[in-house]
Amino acid sequence: MAGENSEKVHDMHVLITGGAGFIGSHLAERHLALGDQVYVVDNLSTGSLANIDPFRGNPAFRFAEADILHWNGLDKAVAWADRIYHMAAVVGVKKVLEDPVAVMATNMTGTERLLRAIHHGGWNPQVIIASTSEVYGFNANSSFAETDHIVLPSAGRLRWAYAVTKLADEFLAFSYARKYGLNIVVVRLFNTIGPNQVGHYGMVVPSFVKQAVANEPLTVYGEGRQTRSFCDVRDTVVALDRLAASPEAWGEVVNVGNDQEISIRDLADLVVQRARSTSPLQFISYKDAYGEEFEDVTHRRPVLNKLRALTGFEPEWRLSDTLDDLIERECAKARRVA
Ligand SMILES: NC(=O)c1ccc[n+]([C@@H]2O[C@H](COP(=O)([O-])OP(=O)(O)OC[C@H]3O[C@@H](n4cnc5c(N)ncnc54)[C@H](O)[C@@H]3O)[C@@H](O)[C@H]2O)c1
Repeated sequence: MAGENSEKVHDMHVLITGGAGFIGSHLAERHLALGDQVYVVDNLSTGSLANIDPFRGNPAFRFAEADILHWNGLDKAVAWADRIYHMAAVVGVKKVLEDPVAVMATNMTGTERLLRAIHHGGWNPQVIIASTSEVYGFNANSSFAETDHIVLPSAGRLRWAYAVTKLADEFLAFSYARKYGLNIVVVRLFNTIGPNQVGHYGMVVPSFVKQAVANEPLTVYGEGRQTRSFCDVRDTVVALDRLAASPEAWGEVVNVGNDQEISIRDLADLVVQRARSTSPLQFISYKDAYGEEFEDVTHRRPVLNKLRALTGFEPEWRLSDTLDDLIERECAKARRVA
């Protein structure tokens, strides 16, 4: 299995854009634990210093607070790196509806700037470009394979701006990979959960956990019949590490996630139960939550055959274990505040 061998080859220089964010900070933690050197660049727009605080005394860790659109250390950092994870992006449906201009700039111009720097670096690092399950768009399938069609509404609805920018990133990445022979893997990340994820940009699990621990109503959008598949971020980073190190994955687009599915209503019930909470469920229409423009995707389950074939990856975290861990952390936070 390609993944098993490649995981032993470490002592790398790892550059993580958006490394003070949710997934990026777990990538930093993993690579520091493996003995690699880690360089994070982040403008702290949605990421936070708290996420990287545990690493800041570590001589193998470096941090630049900068915007990837303008950072003048980019060329040097790229030339230094053996591995690059490009996670920096404007993320989350609420943020996207609030500031679509920032989404277009960061997610497309930022990615192109990075790819240009890699090409000019004269060195061929392993690169992971973060895309998203959102690119499958309004496709009515219940599960999604990399070969499935992408369905986007033809009217210029801004709700899809994020998906369009990530799709553009995919094509930018493949153009550079094809023309210049770069070692790039595009990962379509499905819903990822775990420590360091925050709820205020519309992420469901952190919101539910916080509400349940505070014994406040859990706000379920629509009737809660929409389903999602949640992958623990500590599994996600293993998959990304293995993909980056697998030459057969270079030039490919690969779904990354967990294929266990749950409805949002059942998720709400499960969180309440695991937290031993007295919270009721409160159903809110999409219109009230997001305004007129919102369209939700009913199901979003990844087909993981390609990821499994390339890396042998199997998620290790069960949803209930992740929820228990998040609830415990939220309770500890509540005790500290009290
Ligand atoms: N979390 C998920 O479920 C999920 C699902 C699909 C795709 N993704 C993708 O994974 C990547 C990481 O997402 P995340 O969930 O960790 O979100 P996040 O918001 O926690 O991380 C993004 C990071 O990028 C930083 N950033 C934003 N604009 C920047 C800029 N111009 N310059 C430098 N840094 C900038 C933010 O401050 C943040 O730390 C994103 O590209 C996102 O699109 C995440």
